[in-house]
Amino acid sequence: MELFLDTASLTEIRTMWDIGILDGVTTNPTLVSKEGRKFEDIIRDICALGVPSVSAEVVATDVNGMLAEGRRLRQIHSSVYVKCPMTPAGLTATKILAKEGTRVNMTLVFSANQALLAAKVGAAYVSPFIGRLDDQGQDGIELVRDIVTIYRNYRVPTKVLVASVRHPVHVLEAAKIGADIATMPYAVMEKLSAHPLTDIGLARFLKDWEKVPK
Ligand code: E4P
Repeated sequence: MELFLDTASLTEIRTMWDIGILDGVTTNPTLVSKEGRKFEDIIRDICALGVPSVSAEVVATDVNGMLAEGRRLRQIHSSVYVKCPMTPAGLTATKILAKEGTRVNMTLVFSANQALLAAKVGAAYVSPFIGRLDDQGQDGIELVRDIVTIYRNYRVPTKVLVASVRHPVHVLEAAKIGADIATMPYAVMEKLSAHPLTDIGLARFLKDWEKVPK
């Protein structure tokens, strides 16, 4: 499974990129607003690190506006995926952008039928927001299971990008189901490598190593 960071922070991205576990980055208007920098400069800098997949979201709500923004964003770098919201206008814009060769990440997906439509218009990624579903008492992981099943049934090439991930168990469950990608906050990615027994084991090995004659 590919692991993406859900952030617009260059510091966070650079840290995970340097460790070598990062496959891509997703941003959204909320994450960008925390950086205090121009949107396109942020996207350009992330792409310049060499990250092969960088999702940048349109903020227009009409088809023509989405097309104009999407076309401008994809000019920034070949790694850019344009994020369009799951609305009727977003579906139309996705269909046109995909036909032009732009890879679209269809965002704000909360049902399997929405995912079916995202595939139909040629989205490269579909982003079910599982944490936000969990927050309101629905099972986000069940949605991922449904989408993966449906896409397998019809050999759909759209990749399932599990979004709104809140903790490492979300990542584990998404991987068990066979989702293509999970995008997560920095704190969640940090936790993927952590285990207290690893720390205890390393401390013991280093202590015992001191007894080895040098
Ligand atoms: C995905 O592309 C979104 O940016 C993101 O996962 C939203 O997560 P949130 O529900 O934590 O805001």
